[in-house]
Amino acid sequence: MTLSDVPRVIEIERLAYPSTWPPSAYRKELQDNRWAHYIVLRDKKILEEHVEPSASEAEKPRRFFPLSLLPGRSSTATTSPQLASIIGFAGLWLMVDEAHITTIALHPDYRRQGLGEFLLISLIDIAYTIGARWVTLEVRVSNYVAQNLYRKYGFREAGLRHRYYSDNQEDALIMWTDEIHSPAYRQKFQEQKAALLRKLEARG
Ligand SMILES: CC(C)(COP(=O)(O)OP(=O)(O)OC[C@H]1O[C@@H](n2cnc3c(N)ncnc32)[C@H](O)[C@@H]1OP(=O)(O)O)[C@@H](O)C(=O)NCCC(=O)NCCS
Repeated sequence: MTLSDVPRVIEIERLAYPSTWPPSAYRKELQDNRWAHYIVLRDKKILEEHVEPSASEAEKPRRFFPLSLLPGRSSTATTSPQLASIIGFAGLWLMVDEAHITTIALHPDYRRQGLGEFLLISLIDIAYTIGARWVTLEVRVSNYVAQNLYRKYGFREAGLRHRYYSDNQEDALIMWTDEIHSPAYRQKFQEQKAALLRKLEARG
């Protein structure tokens, strides 16, 4: 994620969460927090549909496809293909040897295709790269969808933070993985990652 991605990230965040961070929070994370790692997921097809034509192609009749007609791209922040192609984002902080997932969200039009899982896998890969030994997060007690995703990747409940969410005073479930470098975790993670990549490839 770069600073120029933030307007689109905020749009997706508004669709994904009941309450949101102010734009300045993302800018601060990207500019000032050296322990923060944020990524965006892009739909390559949207970028490809708007590639500048080569000299020979420029002579062919062109078929323009308005970005506003693509799913989920109806707002002002998405008039550029670079921004419109962002369909999800995620982030974590490294705190000593723990990776704390701060956010993970996918545009509603792209859900249930394994892409949220792909974002989580990408975060766990980052956790390996930056030397984390465990991955942890907080999730609303009512957010069964996200909890299912986390459980699939070995996260287990380790307690509650009472009235953690200020918008509705909802409790947060605290979840942790086992040591991600343990042979058992690593092997299962690699198997699940390979299975997901096969599934995504099969779907094109
Ligand atoms: C959580 C979120 C990222 C999941 O994204 P997604 O792309 O729809 O999920 P995937 O298709 O990758 O599914 C991965 C796993 O999540 C769980 N899951 C996803 N959607 C589900 C649903 N509707 N019901 C139950 N479980 C679900 C399943 O365990 C699924 O694995 P499976 O396909 O083997 O059943 C997405 O729902 C989202 O952006 N939610 C709003 C933001 C949010 O709540 N973030 C988490 C904050 S802690």
